[in-house]
Amino acid sequence: MKIGIDQMAFATTPYYIELSDLAAARGVDPNKFKIGIGQDRQAVVPPTQDMVTLGAAAAKKLPKNALRQVTTLITATESGIDNSKASGIYIKRLLKLNDYIRVVETKEACYSATAALQFARGLVALNPEETVLVIASDIARYGLKTPGEVTQGAGAVAMLVTKNPHVLAIESVSASYTKDIMDFWRPLFAAEAHVDGKYSNQVYVDFFLKTYQRYIQITGRTLADFAAIAFHLPYTKMGKKGLDGLLNNDQSPVAQRLRNNLTAEQQFSRQVGNLYTGSLYLGLISLLQNGDVQPRERIGLFSYGSGAEGEFYSGILQPGYQEYIDSHLQEELQNRQQVTIDQYEHLFNQQLGMSSADVEFDVSSDPSEYVLAGQKNAQRNYQIQDRQL
Ligand code: COA
Repeated sequence: MKIGIDQMAFATTPYYIELSDLAAARGVDPNKFKIGIGQDRQAVVPPTQDMVTLGAAAAKKLPKNALRQVTTLITATESGIDNSKASGIYIKRLLKLNDYIRVVETKEACYSATAALQFARGLVALNPEETVLVIASDIARYGLKTPGEVTQGAGAVAMLVTKNPHVLAIESVSASYTKDIMDFWRPLFAAEAHVDGKYSNQVYVDFFLKTYQRYIQITGRTLADFAAIAFHLPYTKMGKKGLDGLLNNDQSPVAQRLRNNLTAEQQFSRQVGNLYTGSLYLGLISLLQNGDVQPRERIGLFSYGSGAEGEFYSGILQPGYQEYIDSHLQEELQNRQQVTIDQYEHLFNQQLGMSSADVEFDVSSDPSEYVLAGQKNAQRNYQIQDRQL
């Protein structure tokens, strides 16, 4: 029985900054951000948005009849809003999903959506009637005027996992690799990540090569068996570092095609920034919409989460997949509102963060359907807005 990703959708915040503006404000050559990091724009998060509202917005884009079939909801995040309660329970209410449903949250930095997909495959294998909704939702937040600032971002990818999937049939072989290291972490007291950025880059490439080579050893496949390799993209240059580590100076047509498809994978991420758990899967949507890939071809996927864990796995693209992935993304990204660096800094400092105080946010300027209206008695108040501004 084929099992895998049946449908995919993406949502981000209504606002963005141009990274050329950020470069000017920080006194940096804009080419460092555009070429050296590989990012053009960055999603800006108003205090009325968090990983719950973004996750709900992504899932809401899936067809209603598909959402009605959901039996299990798994949120994958490292921007959790509660140390105990699963964020998916709020999302379940906002989406008005059936009460007879299992809901849980996974965590392992940027990797955990891949774990959620693999767990979902297991559920469907045991009971082919299961429909699992996996939502990878995060806010990548490093702090104003830090080296990590340019690699911030936000957004969510929602994926349905079923039997006979329409997008990607996930193959059973995969290679995982885990080591206890400190390249990026966020202690319980911190609203922003702690990161050893250069070290995380090295570990990422090392884990990619280790998991790819193990996958190749197990399967006996070669580079020519892949139409594309989709990478976790904390920033788009990282995918290039990974692929360069594998291809070196290989100028063969197979290698050139993988390079071209990496450019296609990077296209949407360049405009949004890091989504942590969702980055690989926004990359996959971008690849499927902008790349040179055909049904029945194999796509390799490299998932990485700091701490650290990597997994290389693969899937076979399904005929007619185009109908089942979010199709208006380019237009939606164009329609976001640009904000100035001053406005971005103001919004950045308005976040609820670790505060326990009662607060009411002005939701009137946020055009999103799902909003965080504030907090009272340490309970977050999520609302559905019935108007689109
Ligand atoms: N034109 C073109 N490229 C330029 C440039 C210019 N004017 N100035 C610098 N660059 C290049 C550098 O050569 C470097 O390229 P390289 O990585 O291929 O060597 C790149 O831009 C970044 O410059 P660097 O000096 O290393 O940047 P930094 O010290 O500000 O840190 C990160 C960059 C990514 C380490 C930092 O943003 C960070 O810590 N991010 C969060 C961690 C992260 O995302 N890790 C990923 C793994 S999960």
